[in-house]
Amino acid sequence: MTKPSVGVLGTGSYLPEKVLTNFDLEKMVDTNDEWIVTRTGIRERRIAADEIASSDMAYEASIKAMERAGITADDLDLIIVATVTPDMFFPSTACILQDRLGAHSAAAYDLSAACSGFLYGVTTATQFIQNGFYKHVLVVGVESLSKIVDWEDRNTCVLFGDGAGAVVVGPTEEGYGFLSFELGADGSGGSLLCQPGGGSRHPMSPENMDNRLQYIKMNGNEVFKFAVRVMEQVSDAVIEKAGLNKEEVSLLVPHQANLRIIDAARKRLKLPEDRVVVNLDKYGNMSSASIPVALDEAVREKRVKKGDILVFVGFGGGLTWGGSAMRWNLD
Ligand code: ACO
Repeated sequence: MTKPSVGVLGTGSYLPEKVLTNFDLEKMVDTNDEWIVTRTGIRERRIAADEIASSDMAYEASIKAMERAGITADDLDLIIVATVTPDMFFPSTACILQDRLGAHSAAAYDLSAACSGFLYGVTTATQFIQNGFYKHVLVVGVESLSKIVDWEDRNTCVLFGDGAGAVVVGPTEEGYGFLSFELGADGSGGSLLCQPGGGSRHPMSPENMDNRLQYIKMNGNEVFKFAVRVMEQVSDAVIEKAGLNKEEVSLLVPHQANLRIIDAARKRLKLPEDRVVVNLDKYGNMSSASIPVALDEAVREKRVKKGDILVFVGFGGGLTWGGSAMRWNLD
């Protein structure tokens, strides 16, 4: 029996107003615009105000996605929030969002897969819909990374930004929507990219905070090598699983960590630059929010039309990776 088709019914995003440029960073740590641009492609990023938490940004992105999908909060069966920067450990940010939206009949949970979180979420949502368990699932990628970045560490603080992206996933016309998925993890690389403090291993304590364990730690070179490898492998895998050729790909929507990593994936697919969505120059790496924000912008800029083949590919802490190919289902 063929599985029912599942696609994206609406997209939305939210970015905080405050812009932090590379020139601003020059005044904070020993860095410079030229280094950041040539090594990463990032020029500026958005920073959430002190009083703004992840659920606030998730709410704004979700409202837009639901409006564009033509559904109300009552239509939602499940809310998945992919984040490594929840409002708090519990209740989940998804539950906080459910209450704020008034989505009283939706189940809700957070998903932790770092930058791959959005693709893990969309994959999960699709299974629930294909097996008939649910009809409409809201998947949100949201991060307030500025709150866990060490603003004294030039190796990491130049890379990250805040924002939220959301999609409503639901049933669509046969032959359209998600065609293939790929998810993976390699926990042996967990220490390459992590926030060691604040959990049960290194609870919040004055000593752990003095050791700055509450902040992101990263081995950039190792993450870089891993990222290039998986971006190539995952894009190949989702194209093959969907029964497509590389030539059929209309638009690559990759995780936005480093322009050099995106370029490696683009070259592997032999795509010209205008068929890849790049917004890291404006927003930096927003972890789980990067892909849904990039998709929302591409949709609003009319870079996507019905029938186009989109490839999503991402990697992140865990280590984790994910990908999907889809035939775009909206007009
Ligand atoms: N400004 C100036 N110099 C810097 C900066 C900075 N902001 N940061 C590092 N440097 C210096 C280093 O100290 C080093 O100096 P040294 O040679 O005197 O020791 C030199 O620049 C080169 O450092 P490298 O780490 O070798 O630089 P590289 O070209 O590898 O770029 C980078 C570093 C940008 C971090 C790259 O490795 C990268 O993008 N890695 C992947 C990171 C990533 O994608 N992380 C997110 C994953 S997704 C998630 O789950 C959140």
